[in-house]
Amino acid sequence: MAISKALLLAILGCLCLCNAVLAARELADDSAMVARHESWMVQYGRVYKDTVEKARRFKVFKANVAFIESFNAGNHKFWLGVNQFADLSNEEFRVMKTNKGFNPGTGRVATGFRYENVSIDALPATVDWRTKGAVTPIKDQGQCGCCWAFSAVAAMEGIVKLSTGKLISLSEQELVDCDVHGEDQGCEGGLMDDAFKFIIKNGGLTTESSYPYTAADDKCKKVTNSVATIKGYEDVPANNEGALMKAVANQPVSVAVDGGDMTFQFYKGGIMTGSCGTDLDHGILAIGYGKASDGTNYWLLKNSWGTTWGENGFLRMEKDISDKRGMCGLAMEPSYPTA
Ligand SMILES: *[C@@H]1O[C@H](CO)[C@@H](O)[C@H](O)[C@H]1NC(C)=O
Repeated sequence: MAISKALLLAILGCLCLCNAVLAARELADDSAMVARHESWMVQYGRVYKDTVEKARRFKVFKANVAFIESFNAGNHKFWLGVNQFADLSNEEFRVMKTNKGFNPGTGRVATGFRYENVSIDALPATVDWRTKGAVTPIKDQGQCGCCWAFSAVAAMEGIVKLSTGKLISLSEQELVDCDVHGEDQGCEGGLMDDAFKFIIKNGGLTTESSYPYTAADDKCKKVTNSVATIKGYEDVPANNEGALMKAVANQPVSVAVDGGDMTFQFYKGGIMTGSCGTDLDHGILAIGYGKASDGTNYWLLKNSWGTTWGENGFLRMEKDISDKRGMCGLAMEPSYPTA
């Protein structure tokens, strides 16, 4: 039966009215969101070059907030937050933060594993190297893909503290500028093992304060005052969380993870249980492990994205999962320097 013209007009009229109501509601929602975006801009010191850019960033911000809120409304062991990456699309975040150097398998040669005969049963139930003063405060790599340098330096700071008793904040920038061998290419990416090799050949590293971080590829400044060094490095047998546990119980360990997911971009707290892949693109530091009150085993890790990301810059990820590669691939390429 044909719909009468009057009815059709009535339906269209109603749709138009509904659309107008929806648009008005959206505008009201948007004004709250615009205010939220503006206070976020103040909080993170963000300035856009023009209104076009601001409008573009607002759209991304709004979509990210929607993602974060809908994730947090679900039932998860961890939650997300509107952090400094909230106006970056996930694609932009990956380009800015991730590290092209990781290539599972390549660059890894068989090394010894000094903790192979350690008995897992004899290990402490909880380890947190911060409580032993072996972890420097959270640093921020900024817009430079040199997580590999932060991970390697943090592992070195740990073993230097354990072997000399001194916790010294060491220079990532010295690696970014001067270590241009193997996979190491400053802000364009690198490998922790290649960083360890450079440090050994270089006779150590100088302090953070004498060679400060600039978040850019600069010219190498010759350093004559190395304050600490390492003798070697070893790779933890791959895809073996038990082996990683033996190592982490003895010293902080560099690990590579797949840090490109939106859940990683906006991680705020709790125990990350996914969803991430195993395309390794980010270097961080395992500084301990433990068991949560609900019985979930976790790794404790230090990131280099400032204190507004994660648990004041730190992260917990589920431990002892069925995938041998570990959460986000963390058991695929762990390694540590030796004193
Ligand atoms: C572990 O034990 C085996 C057998 O006793 C021995 O051959 C090996 O050298 C030990 N490894 C280390 C790192 O001490």
